[in-house]
Amino acid sequence: MVRWKAQQSVAVVTGASSGIGYHLSRLLAERGARVVAVARRRERLDQLRSATAAASGSVIAYPGDVTDPEVRRGLLARAAEIAEGRLDLLVNNAGIGALGPFAEASPERLRRIMEVNFFAPVELTRLALPMLRLGRQPVLCNLGSVLGHRAVPDKSEYCASKFALHGWSDSLRAELRESGIQVTLVSPSTTESEFFDAVIETPEGQVSRSLGSWPAERVARATLSAILARRAEVILSLGGKALVYADRLSPPLMNRLLAR
Ligand SMILES: NC(=O)c1ccc[n+]([C@@H]2O[C@H](COP(=O)([O-])OP(=O)(O)OC[C@H]3O[C@@H](n4cnc5c(N)ncnc54)[C@H](OP(=O)(O)O)[C@@H]3O)[C@@H](O)[C@H]2O)c1
Repeated sequence: MVRWKAQQSVAVVTGASSGIGYHLSRLLAERGARVVAVARRRERLDQLRSATAAASGSVIAYPGDVTDPEVRRGLLARAAEIAEGRLDLLVNNAGIGALGPFAEASPERLRRIMEVNFFAPVELTRLALPMLRLGRQPVLCNLGSVLGHRAVPDKSEYCASKFALHGWSDSLRAELRESGIQVTLVSPSTTESEFFDAVIETPEGQVSRSLGSWPAERVARATLSAILARRAEVILSLGGKALVYADRLSPPLMNRLLAR
């Protein structure tokens, strides 16, 4: 199978100011990719640029909110300048969460989660498809979650957003088969990052329970491996695999366990 090549590639990574997106952008630049790095915190993107100054590739900081259509158009226009409109990799990684029961949450919490985690990546992809069609072994990589395979309590909006991303990724992969664009869905389990510091509208004291966690850099390395191999789907970590495969074997058992 033809592998994806980072050297001289053009990539866009959303959510590049921290966690998985930061490390993935750095790894890509170190391997020679020219990365348009997107997130709201400009100073963090500048840090990423400094950290990759000696890399064979480069990082172009593009500060902005991915839920803004102007930002989505602008960041792709910037990427299009690099190699005559060609895009080899789009990583939809920007994401947010919220904790706490659905019944106590506002409608705005659901709207915001869906805007960032689902509508923004989908609409960015819609705009990017003509550029990806010009790419070299192009890959669209979506950062899902094991919670997009098996939902758990107190994260209903987040699970719904990641289930939506999962379903859409599967449809799109089949639709794009003839075009040569691979859709890679990466589903991490709990990851050590700033994710839980950034949760929105979460009641005080509400915590997230998990089955083991990986550092963000390890998740980024696994994501890069999946991109290089042009995999359709990867589920990360032992705990993550246990959750997903136990649910596939016996959904009723998982329903009983998770209701406790
Ligand atoms: N952490 C976990 O346990 C875990 C588990 C499974 C899957 N994931 C998924 O992995 C992805 C990365 O998460 P992470 O763990 O690396 O968390 P993180 O450290 O909080 O990183 C999230 C990134 O998304 C960016 N972002 C958030 N909202 C944005 C917006 N509206 N516009 C532009 N950028 C935005 C943040 O940057 P700014 O704040 O600077 O905008 C940040 O760079 C997410 O999709 C998440 O759902 C995480």
